[in-house]
Amino acid sequence: METILLVEDLESLAGVLSLALEGAGFQVLLAKDGVEGIAKVRKGGVDLVVTDLKLPKKSGLDVLRAVKEQTPEIPVILMTAHGSIETAVKAVKEGAYDFIAKPFDPDHLMLQIEKALEKKRLLTENLILKENLTGQIGFPKIIGKGKLISDATEKMRKVAQGKTTVLLLGESGTGKELFARALHLLSPRHDKPLVSINCAAIPKDLLESELFGHERGAFTGAVGRKIGRFELADKGTLFLDEVGELDITLQAKLLRVLEEGEVMRVGGVTNVKSDVRLIAATNRDLLARVARKEFREDLYYRLNVFSIVIPPLRERREDLPALIDHFIVQIAKALKKEVRGVSPEAMKILSAHPFTGNVRELQNAIERAIILCEGNLLLPQDLGLTPSNFQSEEIFLAGGLADASGAAVRSVESKMIQKVLSECGGNKSRAAEKLQVSYKTLLTKIKEYQIDGGSKMKRF
Ligand SMILES: Nc1ncnc2c1ncn2[C@@H]1O[C@H](COP(=O)(O)OP(=O)(O)OP(=O)(O)O)[C@@H](O)[C@H]1O
Ligand SMILES: [Mg+2]
Repeated sequence: METILLVEDLESLAGVLSLALEGAGFQVLLAKDGVEGIAKVRKGGVDLVVTDLKLPKKSGLDVLRAVKEQTPEIPVILMTAHGSIETAVKAVKEGAYDFIAKPFDPDHLMLQIEKALEKKRLLTENLILKENLTGQIGFPKIIGKGKLISDATEKMRKVAQGKTTVLLLGESGTGKELFARALHLLSPRHDKPLVSINCAAIPKDLLESELFGHERGAFTGAVGRKIGRFELADKGTLFLDEVGELDITLQAKLLRVLEEGEVMRVGGVTNVKSDVRLIAATNRDLLARVARKEFREDLYYRLNVFSIVIPPLRERREDLPALIDHFIVQIAKALKKEVRGVSPEAMKILSAHPFTGNVRELQNAIERAIILCEGNLLLPQDLGLTPSNFQSEEIFLAGGLADASGAAVRSVESKMIQKVLSECGGNKSRAAEKLQVSYKTLLTKIKEYQIDGGSKMKRF
């Protein structure tokens, strides 16, 4: 349960507000003047402060300063009487979340509180992400000089300027989230929030209220009002990750929001304006889903206004050395290790590895190796990716190393395709989905590897 500190000298108002807050599921601490307010802030355990501006002893501004000094991430909402708006504006400049002019509708205050708390939660999540090894602080560095990745970066830079909806397409681990972040930061909305939601990670029943919010009592368990991600991303960017996983009823609701530019909270009666720039991403072949009627065609066209394909690592192996260097520098620093590079033998193994999990797999491999590494250079044994891990057929023993790496990739791919095709009873679009490649890529590969029965299989 979240705790709200209410600093208000007028007993009647304090009573009404604390009842309303408790009714909304918050724990309330009361303080009747500035000094008591500051003391309660110092004691800790407060998630949000609502304070009157004019108070006996010390003012609301002093309470705000005490919060900013001690725990700046705690939002402070000021209540002001008519005539002190100027001071309130000054307070916002000093870091208050917002102010609300008296007299006000308690419901309006409640909305402000929920928005502020949800923002704080996201901020905390973001901080955790930033501290995570894999997360990066500041503008994300997109490594890659090859033609395919440069084209993708160039397209991203160009489209960033407007408000166009962007669809990022790429296999798992290719950098879709990285691109989404870069796009937002290059856009005119860079100083507004980038709010993300992973449609695959949230249970179906909860996703609707995560996206659009809900009113109190909208369904069993909806104890308070919840602000959805669409509202939180207002004026900023919303990143809908794994959009291919949205179920068909939510697809209809999403489409309506995109068309009307307004959100209706679950159980709500009025629409809320939503000014959001949308970036969607998927590792699925959405067109194949459209063909199977699993994804709405109209939504597909709404999302696919401008698409950027992020190439898999195997199609840009020339970027491997730069990526390896980048991850070594980044991870060694975070882990405080003295690793500076890769031994030639380890490099050969990395160059031959198929990396079906793309950049993320490479990044994880480097992280593991750095943890195990005892010297300055990553050695084959640190990598745990010896060639026998993925193949040890004769084919690898003939020709040069470059041939071996290509052959290894082809062999693994061909085997995977055959296995998955047979699991899917020859249904290529299902197989493509399972393999996380586009239908077209699968067809090309079936032809290239002359996979048996490939041409005889039924086309969906
Ligand atoms: N070109 C790149 N340069 C530097 N780092 C990269 C690059 N591409 C990806 N990464 C890093 O690889 C990891 C995976 O990238 P990201 O999470 O963006 O992939 P994704 O496409 O969203 O994957 P998934 O579909 O599995 O969610 C991240 O840590 C990201 O920072
Ligand atoms: Mg992702």
